[in-house]
Amino acid sequence: MTHKISVRSAAAGDVEAIDHLLKPFAEKDIILARDRDNIFQHLQEFLVAEYDGQLAGVVCVHIYGENLAEVRSLVVDPEFQKHGVGRLLVEGCEQWALGLGVAKLFALTYVTGFFLKLGYRVVSKESLPHKVWTVCVHCARFADCDEVAVEKVLSDAPIRPMAVKPIIEIDDF
Ligand SMILES: CC(C)(COP(=O)(O)OP(=O)(O)OC[C@H]1O[C@@H](n2cnc3c(N)ncnc32)[C@H](O)[C@@H]1OP(=O)(O)O)[C@@H](O)C(=O)NCCC(=O)NCCS
Repeated sequence: MTHKISVRSAAAGDVEAIDHLLKPFAEKDIILARDRDNIFQHLQEFLVAEYDGQLAGVVCVHIYGENLAEVRSLVVDPEFQKHGVGRLLVEGCEQWALGLGVAKLFALTYVTGFFLKLGYRVVSKESLPHKVWTVCVHCARFADCDEVAVEKVLSDAPIRPMAVKPIIEIDDF
């Protein structure tokens, strides 16, 4: 039997489910804790994956600048892990970042092997700009951080502005 996996932008109606997905992993300090207000405030940064129409995973992309964005809050519901959902979420982040003209993604992670499979490489944490660490001060493991930094260059060439569709377009006579 084939199953359908899709990745889409998150919507306000997803916030409760995103909160449920993230909470157990935040409690184990695997990802940074977020409350529902925080999820709402960053909703435009979130993508969700559906497996046969059920919310199966979530990820967030935070842009730091023209050449750098971070993959954050990546979680696949344990019930749906090992089916390619995590890979599709990260590939969704890559397409989303490229579409906005951002050429490089990085992550701070405990699942280095997963990111290596997706074409990321390990880099020194010192190579990341200081502003990256501003959210880390809220992490319980900040003083003794053992996460690994990984990055992927999405485009070596400068990215030309994409043909972004207008939200509204009218004819003026
Ligand atoms: C890490 C996580 C997102 C992976 O999601 P997933 O849907 O199970 O991963 P996928 O099925 O898409 O796996 C893609 C590939 O990575 C491999 N992989 C998955 N988890 C891995 C791990 N922990 N270590 C090494 N490789 C891993 C898979 O075997 C697969 O390889 P293949 O293409 O050769 O078959 C998921 O296990 C998870 O939510 N973990 C808990 C939260 C967490 O650690 N988040 C990361 C924060 S940065």
